[in-house]
Amino acid sequence: MKEGDIAQVAEIDREAFSSEWMSRSYASYKRDLDNPLASYIAACMKKGFISKLNQDDAQQLPWFKRLFDFNPPQNEERDTTECIIGFAGFWLMLKEAHIISIAVRSDYRRIGVGEGLLISTIELATHLNATAVILEVRASNEIAQALYKKYGFQLVGRRHNYYLDNGEDALLMKIDNITSAPFQACFQQLKNLHVRKHSIVPRQLLRPRVN
Ligand SMILES: CC(C)(COP(=O)(O)OP(=O)(O)OC[C@H]1O[C@@H](n2cnc3c(N)ncnc32)[C@H](O)[C@@H]1OP(=O)(O)O)[C@@H](O)C(=O)NCCC(=O)NCCS
Repeated sequence: MKEGDIAQVAEIDREAFSSEWMSRSYASYKRDLDNPLASYIAACMKKGFISKLNQDDAQQLPWFKRLFDFNPPQNEERDTTECIIGFAGFWLMLKEAHIISIAVRSDYRRIGVGEGLLISTIELATHLNATAVILEVRASNEIAQALYKKYGFQLVGRRHNYYLDNGEDALLMKIDNITSAPFQACFQQLKNLHVRKHSIVPRQLLRPRVN
């Protein structure tokens, strides 16, 4: 994710987390982009692409275009025909990657983007030497929980009355050892399945972030 993406990311954030959105302003995203402990990934595609396609074709979209190119040159021209369709962000605290947000534009859900963002998050966290990934999710958010369970997140706690808007509890979910051989074997299998299902060729790790 680059600074020029913030407006679109904030839009997705507002759509996905309407009741919580006030706390994440443009300025807070900007601060996170400047924070070496924070990492954000944006999934993007050419504008107007999806409207020309039917749902089956949508499975083939190259929305992974910029994943892993996570330290782009600052003078890079913005492609104004690009549209951000999802994003994920995490903070690295000691060896734990704490997922702050993961969201996909509502019109682009159910075509593998959220899962791709989670895969990229886990890969980037591993690359940055994290050994665990942790997150909070609303107790009622069964869709997100299904995604996390698929990737081996375990329920490790509950924060009562965590969300200010309705007093809902947060479930604390965690993968403890992302570098272990059993987790990596499972992860690679799920990733390969995902790539096959959605015909995605992620970019290679081109320019590791320099802090
Ligand atoms: C959660 C979210 C990111 C998933 O993104 P997505 O692109 O639609 O998900 P994908 O198409 O990649 O699906 C991946 C997995 O998620 C789960 N999932 C996604 N949509 C689902 C649905 N409607 N019902 C049940 N499970 C669902 C499934 O486990 C799915 O795997 P499968 O295809 O093998 O069934 C998306 O729904 C979203 O942005 N929600 C609003 C924001 C949010 O709640 N974020 C999580 C905060 S903790």
